Formats: sequence, structure tokens, C-alpha cells
Amino acid sequence: MKKITTTVVSPEEMEKQEQYSLKVRTANASFASEHGRTPLAFVRTFGCQMNEHDSEKIAGMLEHMGYGFCGCFEDADLIVLNTCCVRENAEEKVFGHLGYLKGLKREKPWLTVAVCGCMTEQPHIVEEIGKKYRNVDLVFGTRNLHTLPELLFKTLDEKKRVYEPSHFGNEVAEGVPIRREGSIQAWVTIMYGCDNYCTYCIVPYVRGHERSRRPSDILAEIKKLCDEGYSEITLLGQNVNSYGKDLPKPTDFADLLRLICENTTIPRIRFMTSHPKDISDRLIGVMAEYPQICNQLHLPVQSGSTELLKRMNRHYTREQYLETVRKVREKNPGISLTTDIIVGFPGETDENFEDTLSLVEAVRFDQAYTFIYSRREGTPAAKYPDQVPQDTVKERFDSLLKLQNGISKEINDGYLGKTLEVLCEGVSKTNLAKFTGRTEGNKIVNFTSDTDVTGKFVNVKIENVQTFFLEGTRV
Ligand code: 5AD
Ligand code: SF4
Repeated sequence: MKKITTTVVSPEEMEKQEQYSLKVRTANASFASEHGRTPLAFVRTFGCQMNEHDSEKIAGMLEHMGYGFCGCFEDADLIVLNTCCVRENAEEKVFGHLGYLKGLKREKPWLTVAVCGCMTEQPHIVEEIGKKYRNVDLVFGTRNLHTLPELLFKTLDEKKRVYEPSHFGNEVAEGVPIRREGSIQAWVTIMYGCDNYCTYCIVPYVRGHERSRRPSDILAEIKKLCDEGYSEITLLGQNVNSYGKDLPKPTDFADLLRLICENTTIPRIRFMTSHPKDISDRLIGVMAEYPQICNQLHLPVQSGSTELLKRMNRHYTREQYLETVRKVREKNPGISLTTDIIVGFPGETDENFEDTLSLVEAVRFDQAYTFIYSRREGTPAAKYPDQVPQDTVKERFDSLLKLQNGISKEINDGYLGKTLEVLCEGVSKTNLAKFTGRTEGNKIVNFTSDTDVTGKFVNVKIENVQTFFLEGTRV
């Protein structure tokens, strides 16, 4: 395969966007003097952490354009729906919201509605939005996010609909402002796109080829986060283990982690997502070498059946996955392991499913994110003839969930009475009398403390455990 080299969007293009941003800012200043208030934006995100982080960039650009922010559709002058299409129910939710927004737009004719993200990279979806949801003013994609100032200016100024999904390119934009949700934990994208083409997955078609950011840009961003007082970063990419192959001077993920550990003072580093086929011995070694790399790994297995893994185009067997887990645990004792599993992939037999159950029993994951297979138009698996009947899928899904929940609870039981270090993220949203935070192993801990310890590393004695979180007292 021909090597594709990723480049950075030119400074001239970024400067052009800056100029458009200032033009929208001027328009928003006129709005403010006319209405006696700043126009408000509401960004609603669907899907994965990558989308959450893209929304932080969208909000960063909007802030720069003079928008304030609100927490609901009804108060907004600009609504951005950042969409996901990895499973059908995510798409249905977005269409539900668009229907609701038709009514809102009738009440507030000045309201601007924008739709972006993975859904808008599918031509049939853009067509459907164009035909059925004429209340949508602006459509943009995942790879032209940085051109939002220009697209929004055109939407507002020319008062016409602007539909601009991404054009394929091998560029990454640097310097987009980011309005981060938290002040303790931050997302840092290290690469975009995916080249794996798992047969069930729409991501490579909507997010494009793998494109890595330059190590120097990543390091600069992390150093800035350290200066701003952040204590934890999560490096993001669809498959972080193939980082750097497309750079002019190839650097692999193990090298990048080492660079971050040696050149920044960030106390905690996490990363996701790792593809099992690409986990190198060097990476396992680097994880063990640096204490700031959290002893935690998300390693999606998808299925425990070698036959199914082959049809999913995953490039590893059940045995190879188990061997990777063995090596990871040998070098990183006590590591917390999580995974993704799909139930009901076309052609999944009872026997194939039993293989998944037995793998789950053998590995004993701390947690598994389980998904019912969703047919995605445009992927190879959508054409596979032997789709599994819904009631069989549901039965299998329930038995997998039951098995995994039992294991998660048993693992958590092992923490009863122990004292764990927790990075406090603030007051718990579900129980305002408690603080919440995470352990190095990414376990949620809700705890009581006499003083506000937000942003601090504290020791918590575990007194109660549930399937998905631990509870205790600061000691
Ligand atoms: N159906 C169900 N689950 C899917 N995933 C990706 N595509 C599909 C699909 N078509 C799951 C995989 C992946 C996670 C992010 O979403 O398990 O790891
Ligand atoms: Fe989808 Fe596979 Fe790429 Fe993950 S590695 S985003 S499942 S194609």
C-alpha cells in the first residue's frame, strides 16, 4: 500500500478562519446590542469520547465567535447536534431531536440549527436531512470542523442553508480553540480516522484515513495542560496503537508515550482505544516502565470466537488475544482491563457465542461494554445473509451482561476494606453529599470528606462496593 503522509492545515487557511470568526463576533455584538443579551449556543453531543472532544473544539470556536452557552434547546439561539452513527439507535435519537426542533424553530425563527459529526458524513443521511428537515441551516462533517467560522458566517450572512460535509484529505488542523468541560481531566487527540475496516463498523467511512498529529504539537498541548493545572490526560484515537505510521518521520505509540513521560509533568496518562492486533511488546514494556501511565487498558475483543473474529476482519485469533492479555498482566500486575463486545454479529452461532462467554470467564474483565450488533449501510457485514433473529440476540445479550456484571462485582468485592488513591473530580452528580473521583485503574469512587479535595489525590478507604462503582471515606 502506498504510504500516505499527513500534513497540517496551512497557517493561511487557519488565518482565514480567524477572520471569519471575527466577522461572526461582530454580528454577535450587534445581536447583543439589539437584544440586550449575548446570543447563546447549545452543543448536544452523541456518541464516543472523540465526539465529546470535538464538541469541546466546536464550543471553543463558538466562544471565540462571541457566543455564550446554555444548557437546553429552548434557551438557545444556535443549536449544534454533534452526531454519532456507530449504531442505529444513535441515529434515531438525532432524528427525534430534529423533529422536535422543527417546532422550536417555528417559535424562534432566528434560531440556527447545525448538524455535524459522523452521521453527516453519510450521503444518504445528508439527503434525508435536506429533504425532511428543512429547519437544519448548516451541515458540516468531522474533517472540516476547523472551517466552522467560515461555514457559520455564510449561514448567518447569506441566510441560506449551507451543507458542507468533509472532502477527503490527509490533513489535521492545529490551533483550534478548545473549551474544555473539566479542569482536572482533559482529552488529547493524537490521531484521527481509522484504517482497519472491521466489517461491522462505519467509522473508517465517516472519519476517513488514519491521520496522526505531530509529536511536537501533542507535547505542546500537554505542557499547556500541565501549566493550567490538569492532573490527568486521556490520549484519544480510534486505534492509538497504529499512531505515527503516516508521519513524515514515523514515530510509534510506545515512542510517543515515552516522549510524553520524559518531557511533561502530567501525573496521570490514559489512552484509548487500543486494537489487540497492534499491541507491541515495546508498548507493554513502556506501560510498565512509567508510573504516570495508569495501570489500565481498554482492549476491545468484540468476540471470543476465532471464526467470527476472522469474519469481523479483526486480524487476531482468540488464542492471540488471550496471549496478549497474559503478557500485559505479566508485565503490569493488577492491571484493570476493560473491553467491547458485540453480540449477534451475522452468522453468530450458539457455539460462537459460547466462545465469547468462555473468553469473558477466562479473562475476567473489570468491565465490558456490550453492544447488540447494528446493521450499518455501506459496511461489508450489512450484506451478510445470515442476520441473527432479534430474540436470540436479546437472550445472548442478557446472559453475557449477567455473567460480566457478576465478574465486575466480584472484582470490586476484592477492594472492600482497602485504601485506594483517588483523583477527586468534584462533587458527585448523583449524590451531592459525596465527592467523586477515579482510581488509577479507572474505577469510580464516591466518598465523603470533611474538606473540599477537588483536584487533589487523596486516599479513600473502601467501605461499600457496587457493580459499577466503589464507596468509601477519605482517610
Ligand atoms: N454494531 C454494534 N456495535 C458496534 N460497534 C462498532 N460498530 C458496531 C455495530 N455496527 C462497537 C464496537 C466498538 C464500539 C465503539 O462500538 O464494539 O468497539
Ligand atoms: Fe471501527 Fe474497527 Fe476502526 Fe474500531 S478499529 S473504529 S471497530 S473499524
